[in-house]
Amino acid sequence: MEISNSSAIVTGGASGLGAATCRALAEKGARVVVFDRNEDGAKQVAAEIGGEYIGGDVTNPDDCQRAVDLAAEGDELRIAVNCAGTGWAERVINRSGEPHSAQGFEFILRLNVIGTFNVMTRAAAAMAKVAPGEDGERGVVVNTASVAAFDGQIGQLAYSASKGAVVAMTLPAARDLSVVGIRVVTIAPGLFDTPLLATLPEDQRRALGESVLFPKVLGLPSQYGQLVVSIAQNRYLNGEVLRLDGGIRMPPR
Ligand SMILES: NC(=O)c1ccc[n+]([C@@H]2O[C@H](COP(=O)([O-])OP(=O)(O)OC[C@H]3O[C@@H](n4cnc5c(N)ncnc54)[C@H](O)[C@@H]3O)[C@@H](O)[C@H]2O)c1
Repeated sequence: MEISNSSAIVTGGASGLGAATCRALAEKGARVVVFDRNEDGAKQVAAEIGGEYIGGDVTNPDDCQRAVDLAAEGDELRIAVNCAGTGWAERVINRSGEPHSAQGFEFILRLNVIGTFNVMTRAAAAMAKVAPGEDGERGVVVNTASVAAFDGQIGQLAYSASKGAVVAMTLPAARDLSVVGIRVVTIAPGLFDTPLLATLPEDQRRALGESVLFPKVLGLPSQYGQLVVSIAQNRYLNGEVLRLDGGIRMPPR
């Protein structure tokens, strides 16, 4: 797909992997709409890349529709990237023998799964109306899972369930959208150096980097953005989940 002159919506675009994606797409000439519940952060990234921003919550369907409508202005919405999401650490039963909180489980499923569903479905509906390009291609949706979808660690019951759902949506979404020329690809990142991990002390961050097969460092958000650009440009990539993880396989803890 020709990124330049396409419109793109990036959820979670105010920080980490989402912000890096906004930068990478803008560098290739896309008109980027940064969508994040952190409106100030979204505004900052938009100003930096010459894009637009909108504050809102991906779990709120109306907020998602407003964001997609903004990105669809000009009838060139061809790229939707879902990066809004977060982690959750809680065991099936805690040290006192109490069960995992239903509230925590529901919160993370709502954010990571329903948030992705809300934006993917609305963005696809808008993309289905744009003029097709080469081979009838109209657009691409990139969703963000995690290696935790496959190698869930101790305390990742809810997080792994949510990312497993993002992985499982990939093929049926790609099949559904094939009739309108929209591809769906999921990235499953390993350990990336974003504000999510920045809260850890330096020695723990270094130890995490050492646990990667090669190269023995945390991934850079720019490497995630680079993969989104490649996915958008490579029209033969579809219905697949790509691990971007330096070969890491997560141990139980
Ligand atoms: N950083 C990693 O190592 C890593 C690894 C695997 C998967 N991931 C996944 O990648 C995604 C991005 O992670 P990150 O490290 O860039 O995190 P981050 O915390 O740096 O950025 C997440 C962004 O999402 C936004 N957000 C959160 N909830 C939202 C909501 N309800 N509505 C709108 N925006 C919301 C936040 O404001 C923030 O700007 C997440 O889904 C995360 O699970 C990250």
